[in-house]
Amino acid sequence: MLIKKLITSAAVLATVSLMSGIAIAESAGHAEYMGSCAVCHGDGALGDGPLSKYMTLEVPELTTLAKANGGEFPMLRVIQVIDGRGGLRGHGDARPDSGGNMPVWGDRFAAQETEMAGVYGAELLVRGRILALAQYLESIQN
Ligand code: HEC
Repeated sequence: MLIKKLITSAAVLATVSLMSGIAIAESAGHAEYMGSCAVCHGDGALGDGPLSKYMTLEVPELTTLAKANGGEFPMLRVIQVIDGRGGLRGHGDARPDSGGNMPVWGDRFAAQETEMAGVYGAELLVRGRILALAQYLESIQN
């Protein structure tokens, strides 16, 4: 009986901490989003940030990514697009100062983190930041 109770409360605890982990990831992602992305994609991710009118490409809204993918949020593609270091879809080599495209966040975040964390530590932090951003975007899908 006691064991069963213990297992149940362990399971509840694990669920709660998993959920609060997700909540923390989402709010960390939200903070990253407001700091790095809203300037182009807009506070509400509707593609209407103050810089969007200076872009040569239309800045897409980011609340309909799941809808555009048959109802499923394209997590892997979103991670790759944000990272940009894979050179996907022309994101990789096009930056705002060379024609107004999506910046390569993987490089920018890595440059910010390397001094503190070293090259390998920085890579983990970069991936964490990109994942938090992608999870935030997943949480705001229409
Ligand atoms: C300098 C303006 C700018 C900033 C800042 C910016 N983006 Fe973008 N983003 C774009 C443009 C322009 C495109 C469309 C590029 C294309 O079609 O090749 C895009 C495309 C995307 C896409 C692909 C959307 C789709 O329909 O497939 C995602 C996801 C995305 N951005 C996320 C982000 C995130 C997350 C951030 C912040 C870390 C960010 N963007 C910051 C300009 C920007």
